[in-house]
Amino acid sequence: ASARLPKVSAEELVKHNKQDDCWVVLFGQQDDYWVVLFGQVYDVSPYLEYHPGGVPELMRAAGTDATGLFNQYHSWVNYDNMLKACIVGRFDGDTAKLP
Ligand code: HEM
Repeated sequence: ASARLPKVSAEELVKHNKQDDCWVVLFGQQDDYWVVLFGQVYDVSPYLEYHPGGVPELMRAAGTDATGLFNQYHSWVNYDNMLKACIVGRFDGDTAKLP
């Protein structure tokens, strides 16, 4: 399913680093081929205020790869299910260009 989503470049992702326009990419579970290869890009702006870890914590990953922090705090959380309504695309860029 991820493969059919619009492609999001690193240059595009980094632009969305504000609280009211906050995108993140997550490279997911090892058994999901597409998710690991491309990652899924989410607009988490509407979710921010509901994040149990708080807005500033989640904002640390704004406009970039949230995978490391996400797994550091709660690798067990099923974001794929939680953020279904927030998906905007799949990452198709250079992670080295992300902050
Ligand atoms: C807690 C979701 C990103 C830091 C939680 C919890 C959920 C969640 C469901 C509650 C977990 C539980 O109680 O078992 C998400 C989603 C994210 C995200 C969907 C999508 C990007 C992040 C990031 C960070 C972070 C990037 C760190 C920079 C935390 C912390 C808690 C937490 C510290 C613990 C809060 C507490 O127990 O007091 N998050 N999170 N989260 N999250 Fe996130």
